[in-house]
Amino acid sequence: MLLELIDVNSFYDKSHILQDVSMRLESGEAIGLVGRNGVGKSTTLKSIAGVVTPQSGRILYRDKNLVGLRPHQISRRGVGYVPEERRIIPNLTVRQNLLLGIKPGQGENKDGWSIDKAYELFPQLKKRDGHRGGNLSGGEQQMLTIVRTLMGDPDLLLIDEPTEGLAPNIVEDVSRFICEIGKSGISIILVEQKIELVIELVSRIYVMSKGQIVFEGTPAELESADDIREKYLEV
Ligand SMILES: Nc1ncnc2c1ncn2[C@@H]1O[C@H](COP(=O)(O)OP(=O)(O)O)[C@@H](O)[C@H]1O
Ligand SMILES: [Mg+2]
Repeated sequence: MLLELIDVNSFYDKSHILQDVSMRLESGEAIGLVGRNGVGKSTTLKSIAGVVTPQSGRILYRDKNLVGLRPHQISRRGVGYVPEERRIIPNLTVRQNLLLGIKPGQGENKDGWSIDKAYELFPQLKKRDGHRGGNLSGGEQQMLTIVRTLMGDPDLLLIDEPTEGLAPNIVEDVSRFICEIGKSGISIILVEQKIELVIELVSRIYVMSKGQIVFEGTPAELESADDIREKYLEV
């Protein structure tokens, strides 16, 4: 098991958001976390990344508890977090933005990510190498955000709503791009509103409602669970 959440409870002040959330992820697996707005999906990723500190429960990553560690410590252990808001630096070029993703003291890792390897896999970004981040399209900025996180050589990538606000044709690009990342062996937790896209990309899906996991199953199982989709996903 790469990651295991056991009865995680997270709060914002006195608001009890995550309520006994338990999830697990095998090494190399991509899973989806879906549910309506405001149910706690982002809070789940933030709790794993250490941006929010759970008040109780355990988050085991390679059998070690992450709860209480700072975000940079969690990132150093191999957990890359791509938050909802794209944090590119508009005045820096694509290459300069990517260089920011390399962790201090990371050193040369032959099998790890490099700008060249990233460009080989994602030629669309290579074409933009010398362009300022702020001049990229929304989809390109999203790819840049993800690739910058890859530069830190994560084993697990947490991606929060990567296609939000993107035009439909660009959604396809970002989706293909996430698929490539999965094929490279990185484990993924994908939070995404577009269920069709999640179904295409992951092997297991968790559905969340009001801070609790209410369903866990394969994409096929979710597709045939009409009651769950009607109750927790469809408008
Ligand atoms: N920084 C915050 N302070 C207080 N409440 C928050 C904060 N962030 C999110 N919330 C609340 O926590 C709940 C879960 O939010 P979130 O995890 O962002 O949901 P989702 O990602 O599923 O849309 C929502 O009710 C939201 O209003
Ligand atoms: Mg969210």
